[in-house]
Amino acid sequence: MADRLNAAVLISGSGSNLQAIVDHIRSHDVPCDIQLVVSNNAAAYGLTRAARAGISTAVIDHRAYADRATFDGELARTIDSHDAEVLFLAGFMRILTDEFVERYRGRMLNVHPSLLPDLKGLDTHRRAIEAGHVSHGASVHYVTPALDDGPVILRGRLDVAASDTPQSLQQRVHRLEHRIYPQVVSWLAHGRLRLEGRTVYLDGRALPGTGEDYYDPHA
Ligand code: GRF
Repeated sequence: MADRLNAAVLISGSGSNLQAIVDHIRSHDVPCDIQLVVSNNAAAYGLTRAARAGISTAVIDHRAYADRATFDGELARTIDSHDAEVLFLAGFMRILTDEFVERYRGRMLNVHPSLLPDLKGLDTHRRAIEAGHVSHGASVHYVTPALDDGPVILRGRLDVAASDTPQSLQQRVHRLEHRIYPQVVSWLAHGRLRLEGRTVYLDGRALPGTGEDYYDPHA
């Protein structure tokens, strides 16, 4: 069906964002079909979630490939054989080659647990606390070759509490991710998003570099 968006989701672990996207697509009748869930880790719980939702799964274990390029080549072949037009990275813990990223430029999204462009990379919750940040959150962004540097579509923001630990922040941010990622998937599937250069347009309106803002005072 040409009016529905075919997607693949790439995971490495729990897949709670995958679950949130699947649930939102169903409950809100979003015109998006997840054709495939790929994991580089055979033990990823997200594979069980996908199977339960009736979605095809594939495991491509990076350790079986000589280098990143060969692994990414197999990934691309698998994705393309399922006719996926867009890719959602959801806790996929592999760095992708520039070639792979270019192939899906403007068609690949990721969720990162910080308010980008702040706190790129790992261990964001501990770093947010150590830096004394009063706001923290997550960002859904297009993927470009530079890590965590792609144009931001939507940021979910919460207030850091004095009592927060890296663990409590991680859980609170995770819940925010489960709201903002499905929202962006819905915008995309309804044809409301456009990327031109590094500028993201939502309903024809250019978003600021930090994307649309979703602040949850209760998160
Ligand atoms: C999330 O924290 C996300 O921000 C990061 O990986 C984690 C994935 O969690 N990119 P899950 O597998 O979706 O539960």
